[in-house]
Amino acid sequence: MSEEQAGVPAWVPKASAIAREAGAKLRTFFVAGVETEYKGDVDLVTVADRTSEKLIRERLAEAFPEHGVFGEEGTRDRLEAEFRWYVDPLDGTTNFAHGFPHFCVSLGLEKRIPGQSADQDGTLVAAVIYDPLLDELFAAERGRGATLNGRPMRVAQTPELAESLVATGFPSRKRHESPNVHFYQEFTLRSHGVRRAGSAALDLAYVAAGRLEAFWEFNLNPWDTAAGILLVEEAGGQVTGFAGQHFKLDSREILASNGLIHAELVTVFRDLFAGRNLEPIPTPQEFAARRAERAAG
Ligand code: IPD
Ligand code: CA
Ligand code: CA
Repeated sequence: MSEEQAGVPAWVPKASAIAREAGAKLRTFFVAGVETEYKGDVDLVTVADRTSEKLIRERLAEAFPEHGVFGEEGTRDRLEAEFRWYVDPLDGTTNFAHGFPHFCVSLGLEKRIPGQSADQDGTLVAAVIYDPLLDELFAAERGRGATLNGRPMRVAQTPELAESLVATGFPSRKRHESPNVHFYQEFTLRSHGVRRAGSAALDLAYVAAGRLEAFWEFNLNPWDTAAGILLVEEAGGQVTGFAGQHFKLDSREILASNGLIHAELVTVFRDLFAGRNLEPIPTPQEFAARRAERAAG
């Protein structure tokens, strides 16, 4: 008996096939090279973004005719439906346009209570993020765990920020208004390092896969985060706002982690926002002593 016959919805298998097909198209454009257009001063878009969204929109309509679709490049179909897909047809456009090989397709599915208004959050129930260059498919379904290329994945078990690799991103609109460089500096000094790889969806997938302990960003949209949030939660991690508050899809600010270092991250955000003196950064000797203490049990 297939999973679908056994009552398991076919969201993930069908979305995986769609993400793979869109990813293959992106790979072809990437190899051939594409012209770049500007949506804002450094907000880029290419024919690859639009072609990928068109394909995903058509395939989702074939696979799930009753579902809604909300896509970065303008798709707004059946937004009052019980199920709604958040689509980023190419997350990492700036990388893509420069030939920097790090980008993906992101599809997140939200289930909404019938009658709920279009701007209220439902529950994220399925997620697929596909990196076509590494052929890595990250997937999750609410209550059924998260996988990388079909194998279960878990967040890293690192217990403190000082031994973590974390990631962030910077907005391409109103760049001069972003305070993130201060957080970037502080987390750089308090961790193994901060990566700014240029794809928020892959950043979240990497937290879920245990490759990063945490990710934060100030100005994201639901198509950047919907799939990644479910991946992190289903892999055992935590997603909130910067104050540790409940995350909403239109919150824009996101703090995702392995859960174990979440309280520490929230404290750094609280103190930096308050302009308080932060705890002094431990010396290399103090770091070594703490590691030795933990290793001794
Ligand atoms: C961007 C990427 C980037 C993040 C930006 C996003 P796009 O999405 O996720 O990592 O820092 O805030 O806008 O434009 O490549 O789909
Ligand atoms: Ca994006
Ligand atoms: Ca995009």
